[in-house]
Amino acid sequence: MVHRKKLTIGLFGFGCVGYGLYEVLEKTPGLKANIKRICVKDRTKSRQIPLEHFTFEALDILNDDEINTIVELIDDADAAFEIVKMALMKGKSVVTANKKMIADHFAELLQLQKEFDVPLLYEAACCASIPIIRNLEEYYDNDLLESIEGIVNGSTNYILTKTSDEHISYADALLEASQKGYVETNPILDTGGFDAKFKLLILIAHAFGIVAKPEEIFNIGIDRLGDLELKYAREKGLKIKLVAFAEKAQNGKIKAFVLPKFIHKTDKLFTVDDVFNGVKTKSYFSDTQFFVGKGAGAYPTASAVLSDISALTYDYRYEYKKLNQKDSLEADDQIQLKILLRHNLKNGPLFEAYFEEILESYRNQESGYTIGTISLAGLKEIVAHQTPDISVILCETCNPTS
Ligand SMILES: NC(=O)c1ccc[n+]([C@@H]2O[C@H](COP(=O)([O-])OP(=O)(O)OC[C@H]3O[C@@H](n4cnc5c(N)ncnc54)[C@H](OP(=O)(O)O)[C@@H]3O)[C@@H](O)[C@H]2O)c1
Repeated sequence: MVHRKKLTIGLFGFGCVGYGLYEVLEKTPGLKANIKRICVKDRTKSRQIPLEHFTFEALDILNDDEINTIVELIDDADAAFEIVKMALMKGKSVVTANKKMIADHFAELLQLQKEFDVPLLYEAACCASIPIIRNLEEYYDNDLLESIEGIVNGSTNYILTKTSDEHISYADALLEASQKGYVETNPILDTGGFDAKFKLLILIAHAFGIVAKPEEIFNIGIDRLGDLELKYAREKGLKIKLVAFAEKAQNGKIKAFVLPKFIHKTDKLFTVDDVFNGVKTKSYFSDTQFFVGKGAGAYPTASAVLSDISALTYDYRYEYKKLNQKDSLEADDQIQLKILLRHNLKNGPLFEAYFEEILESYRNQESGYTIGTISLAGLKEIVAHQTPDISVILCETCNPTS
């Protein structure tokens, strides 16, 4: 029988997820974990529980020796890093849901865990309610994982579902998502594919043992999608989804990027709509597996935080077993993509020069598209032109040897 440790928690943040966790913990009396103090920022805000539970000074919690566990659920990645860093240095276990903070400081956070011999868990940071990190860490430990592909950002998936199912424009769908509170304060983090990239960065550490920096992973979001490609998808019975993708190439290197992608109805990701997330894993022996669940919201996210808290009671920690595999990211010119590039009439011919093969071209009075194969290096050069009226949708990744 496993001995369960008693946790005394200092909670940072009492917003959507923080309050959700408070409620979820109230309903889980069997767990040996109680919140001693909660740190928030705004002194003028009214709170759902008595003020005596709160502090506005981080040190009130960080300097409290009775508190052995910090749960960090604030919306400021820089402040979060300072809190998490100090907590780890003081030997307190940490649970966080802050993907930007983790992605920005991954190597340093690994070092802190090692140096101070304390666990840092972050299941909620990737796909909220889907237990993907622990699966990658434990279940696939001895399996030969080939690829991981997923819809990991709920707000963009909600917007894309609206444009696809209700035929409304991208701008109207974004407005609706913002009004429902699904979009970050800075919407470009979601719509530009940055949030999905931060999550992919965490996933590839556990899937393939790669510690990457955000600037090493290419991302295009959905913010440039226009009517032409939305109509193209509809006419072909396809959906456009923002997909985070990582695959082990035959040379052992990892291809990783975030791009909007045309999804066929036979693909499991086709049915992942609204704020749901879905992740497909492919491995040599177990073939394809598919995880699906709510990727945002107070309770789904809090449930993953709760699971991490529960794991801490029996001293669970990520072992990062795959970090020794010495895998690295694939060079951009070795990654071949089949894409649809929508461009204006002036830029069309210029950008077509970057394609290695052109399979289809279309022009109307104002714009057009080109479908063909291109290297990631070539695609980056097109994007570097900073032309606002282009958009890119992945048709498929191409294995250069096939
Ligand atoms: N919402 C989701 O569905 C979801 C899903 C997965 C992951 N996450 C992640 O979970 C974290 C929290 O998200 P959320 O949606 O709960 O945010 P939120 O509703 O905006 O709440 C943020 C909380 O952080 C507090 N805060 C901000 N800066 C602070 C500081 N320097 N010190 C102490 N408290 C501070 C705020 O205090 P005041 O109350 O005083 O303003 C507020 O209580 C983020 O990292 C987010 O990316 C969220």
